[in-house]
Amino acid sequence: MSMSLSNVKNVMATSEVCAYLVAQAEPSSAVQRQLIERTRALGGPAEMQIPHEQGVFLTLLAKLVNARRIVEVGTFTGYSTLALAKGLVPGGRVLTCDISEEWTSIAQEGWKAAGVADRIDLKIAPALDTLRALPSEPVVDLVFLDADKPGYQAYWEELVPRVRPGGLLLADNVLYGGEAVRADAKGNALAIREFNKHVRADDRVESVMLTVADGLTVARKC
Ligand SMILES: C[S@@+](CC[C@H](N)C(=O)[O-])C[C@H]1O[C@@H](n2cnc3c(N)ncnc32)[C@H](O)[C@@H]1O
Repeated sequence: MSMSLSNVKNVMATSEVCAYLVAQAEPSSAVQRQLIERTRALGGPAEMQIPHEQGVFLTLLAKLVNARRIVEVGTFTGYSTLALAKGLVPGGRVLTCDISEEWTSIAQEGWKAAGVADRIDLKIAPALDTLRALPSEPVVDLVFLDADKPGYQAYWEELVPRVRPGGLLLADNVLYGGEAVRADAKGNALAIREFNKHVRADDRVESVMLTVADGLTVARKC
C-alpha cells in the first residue's frame, strides 16, 4: 500500500474566504487607503502593489526580528515600504530601490503623510548597482524582494551575505500566478522557477514558501 507523505490542507480562496481573511488583518489607515486609491488611478500597474494583509504581515515580521536595517528591492508607490517602516525599531531605516521617478514620487508623498519619510532612504538606480555598493558586513535584519523577476537571483546573491544570522529574506510573487509551478514555465515565470530552485538549494538559509498573495518565500539566515 502506498502512502502519501504530504498532508496538504487546502481552503479554496473564494472571494468570500479572501474577504474574511482580509477582514482579520489590522485595518488599513486613512493614509494607506489614500495610497491604494492613488495607485489604483494608475490603471494596469496598480496590480503590482502588495495587498493590505501582506503589508500587515511585513510589519509583523519586521517587528519580530527587531528590524533596524531593512533593504527593499522594488518600491513602486511605496505601500510595502510603508509597511516595513512601520515595523522598524526606533532609529531604524529602510533602504528601498527602484528605477521609476514617477511611481516613487507617489510613494514619497504617502510616506510623508504617514509620518515615516524620515526613516526611508530611496535610491533611484538599477537595484543591482545599489546593492553592490552596500557595505559587505552582515548587518541587514530584513530583505524584501519585489522587483524585476529575472533579477531576483542576483539580488539574492548580493543580499544573503549582508543579512545577519537570524535575519529574514522575503521574496514576493514566487508562485507567479501559478505559472511558476509549471515545468514549461516561460519568461518571468521561468525566472521565478529558477530562483525558487536556487533558494531551495541554498544551505545558508532555512526557508518556506507561503500562499500569501502571489506566493511569499520566507527565508531565515542560518
Ligand atoms: C512589483 S513592483 C513593487 C511593488 C511594491 N513593493 C509595492 O508593494 O507597492 C516592482 C518595482 O520594481 C521596479 N524595478 C524594476 N526593475 C528594477 C531594477 N532593475 N532596479 C530597481 N527597481 C526595479 C519597478 O520600477 C517597480 O516599481
